[in-house]
Amino acid sequence: MTQTLTIRKKQWYSKDTFGLEVYAPGIDPQPGQFFQLRVGDGLDPFLNRPISVASYTGGKLLFITKVVGRGTDLLSQKHVGEKLMMLGPFGTAINVIRKKSLLIAGGIGVAPLYFLAQKLSKHGVFCTFLYGAKRPEDIILKGRIRKIAHRALFVAEYGSKKRMTAVQAVRGLETNAYEVAYACGPRPMLIELQQLRLPIPVYAFCEDFLGCGCGLCLGCAILYKGTYKRICTDGPVFELSGIDFNA
Ligand SMILES: Cc1cc2nc3c(=O)[nH]c(=O)nc-3n(C[C@H](O)[C@H](O)[C@H](O)COP(=O)(O)OP(=O)(O)OC[C@H]3O[C@@H](n4cnc5c(N)ncnc54)[C@H](O)[C@@H]3O)c2cc1C
Ligand code: FES
Repeated sequence: MTQTLTIRKKQWYSKDTFGLEVYAPGIDPQPGQFFQLRVGDGLDPFLNRPISVASYTGGKLLFITKVVGRGTDLLSQKHVGEKLMMLGPFGTAINVIRKKSLLIAGGIGVAPLYFLAQKLSKHGVFCTFLYGAKRPEDIILKGRIRKIAHRALFVAEYGSKKRMTAVQAVRGLETNAYEVAYACGPRPMLIELQQLRLPIPVYAFCEDFLGCGCGLCLGCAILYKGTYKRICTDGPVFELSGIDFNA
């Protein structure tokens, strides 16, 4: 579904990460789903940019985006009152398992996991939210995460006393105490996490490059349990142990 909605709120969470909120009643997106946002006014840039749902309450749909290139920079220049064209929701929603959960976020991977944490909290599911960023000042939503997660752990690779990546912090946890884990972050983080071979199922949100975003171009193929899958339609969430990152 294509909709053009008015931006109702804009907030900068850090120097390069901002949120845009639109009012989109009646769509009820679920964790794992994303929208394709039109960042420019004309045909340039041609491709829309996939951005996950970071929150959806009372029809208020929030996108949290990190500026990494031209498309996200253009998006960051939009203001309250301007129109935002969006297509979606796309992607296969995950089944929110009502089991003791460990959420592992790296960088902007926090956005979809924040949405998942809100759902888990609504269902009264125990969750630990572990969130790693490059620097302490890159960590966003700290207060909100503390409110919804039973346990919140924040780590940074530089500029803090305990320098640590999210995966290094996972090593220090009693992962047997959880029944399921969800992870979202850069590909190297997911690869490292896969190598840990955690004793519980880990569902990875794969936020790699997309082309069309709707299943047509096969530009997002990923080898999963011996079969090529499309991140944009079959995913973006896959069980981590089944992903072949070398393909
Ligand atoms: C399903 C899905 C959900 C996503 N959700 C979010 C979200 O909620 N918030 C958010 O900030 N981003 C999210 N992303 C990533 C976001 O779509 C990209 O960062 C964005 O498209 C980059 O566009 P750009 O024009 O700014 O950067 P480009 O000019 O295209 O690239 C700039 C630099 O960033 C790198 N880059 C671009 N896209 C990616 C990517 N997907 N992964 C790793 N490196 C990349 C490029 O290699 C290049 O070095 C998501 C991606 C997917 C597939
Ligand atoms: S991005 Fe085109 S098929 Fe997935």
